Amino acid sequence: MAFKNHSSRTVSTSSSLPFRFTTIITLLLIFYTSYYIFFSQLDHSPLTSSAENPPFAGDLRDLTSPWNKLSFGPISQKLKLAVFCKSWPVGSIPGGMERHAYTLYTSLASRGHEVHVFTVSYDRSNHHKNQEEYYNKGDLHIYFAPNENGGLNISHAFEIFHRINGVDRPFDYVHTESVALPHWRVKMVPKGDVAVTWHGIWYEIMHSKLFEELYYSNDHPISDLDHTMPRLVDEIRFFPAYKQHICISNSAREVLVNIYQLPKRNVHVIVNGVDQTKFVYSPETGARFRAKHGVPVGNGTVIVMGVSGRLVRDKGHPLLYEAIALIAKTHPQVYLLVAGSGPWGKRYAELGEHVRVLGSLEPEELSGFYNALDVFVNPTLRPQGLDLTIIEAMQCGKPVVAPNYPSIVGTVVVDERFGYTFSPNVRSLVETLDSVVRDGSRVLEMKGKACKDYALSMFTATQMASAYERFFMCMTNERFCRYPLHIDS
Ligand SMILES: *[C@@H]1O[C@H](CO)[C@@H](O)[C@H](O)[C@H]1NC(C)=O
Ligand SMILES: *[C@@H]1O[C@H](CO)[C@@H](O)[C@H](O)[C@H]1NC(C)=O
Repeated sequence: MAFKNHSSRTVSTSSSLPFRFTTIITLLLIFYTSYYIFFSQLDHSPLTSSAENPPFAGDLRDLTSPWNKLSFGPISQKLKLAVFCKSWPVGSIPGGMERHAYTLYTSLASRGHEVHVFTVSYDRSNHHKNQEEYYNKGDLHIYFAPNENGGLNISHAFEIFHRINGVDRPFDYVHTESVALPHWRVKMVPKGDVAVTWHGIWYEIMHSKLFEELYYSNDHPISDLDHTMPRLVDEIRFFPAYKQHICISNSAREVLVNIYQLPKRNVHVIVNGVDQTKFVYSPETGARFRAKHGVPVGNGTVIVMGVSGRLVRDKGHPLLYEAIALIAKTHPQVYLLVAGSGPWGKRYAELGEHVRVLGSLEPEELSGFYNALDVFVNPTLRPQGLDLTIIEAMQCGKPVVAPNYPSIVGTVVVDERFGYTFSPNVRSLVETLDSVVRDGSRVLEMKGKACKDYALSMFTATQMASAYERFFMCMTNERFCRYPLHIDS
């Protein structure tokens, strides 16, 4: 995420109301325009019409669709890479960003590249503040350089960076996950050759603030809307400090090219992948999970829906809670499994026999959880980035119900073969869940199979790692920007 700490919310005074109103109108206008841009361009997207289009051939820097789609051959050269990353998973169950970093860099190191990660521990309680720590696993080298607050001490990280840069040979390339390497530090990197992967951009954050405002404004006024536009302007001004930009969805690429006005050839799409050996289709594991947690066996009549993650407001739980309460009245065969912890766990439990709140699951239980479902629901009100849970569920052969944000409909749930999309309001979600129930478990199973095939063709950790590998090769040696090469299949 580009920015984690949003300014604190204060209750707005009546004098700021007219301004808030104009801000909302402005936001609405922007998003109508952007939707228009997205959808008019989607028609030509190679992603949705891959069957008719010839396979891509040419310079990879001209590719407008995800690199993951291509099939890159093995590379014998070994790179020395520096990576700046906000935090690294240690101990407690990590967030999506940390899991992504772990999967990617472990995979690159296992291909023989020397990967040096400058970061801090995700589990801040476990580590001595201000103290440098280091460990390595083969070619993966992790340096923790925390400041007194547990965040990354970038000065300290740079001291280590320069030290390692002087050992054997200099780094071939520098990569940062979002702003872990701040833009004003980029010029201190030799040659200034830095690629950044954006896991969420302010434009998308504005989009989510708009939805939150529209959904919650009656009971919880949100007054920080006034600050959103200046932050967008600020972000558009500092983005060009980074040379190469990697987006995790097609829609983010459109925004960086059309609205942030970055040079087209410097903006690339590599979608996040998940470990396809951890998330696998397995009806047996699903049946065991159902039995263990006392889910009724309904001979295909019960529809088991599932939701996972932190059970907080931002993730759209109030929306799903309201929708399930309504849908359970008209469709008593609906059953909801809730994995995760947070304030909304208790509320879900109030819904009685239709809901089972499981608490936080161990990482190895997650695959069983997905397999136990007929359909996975992600009600998030935060359209930034791509939620890994959607991809995990798809790899386990489950169709998804997700909001119709550009990042999702343009890259993941690209058509109804893979599931259902809704607008982030109760009426739309209830209508959608209603069609899920009417479709029934047979149709859901078919869609799930399509999801599995699509996810395995697009979102595996292996494809993500080989896309990044080829990207770094192309950035260090133009010869590798051609596709296909003789090594590619
Ligand atoms: C960051 O690291 C530098 C260099 O090691 C050190 O001098 C400084 O005190 C550290 N700053 C913080 C806030 O920890
Ligand atoms: C499921 O179907 C079988 C045979 O079709 C039947 O014997 C059984 O009672 C059914 N179970 C439920 C819970 O409806």
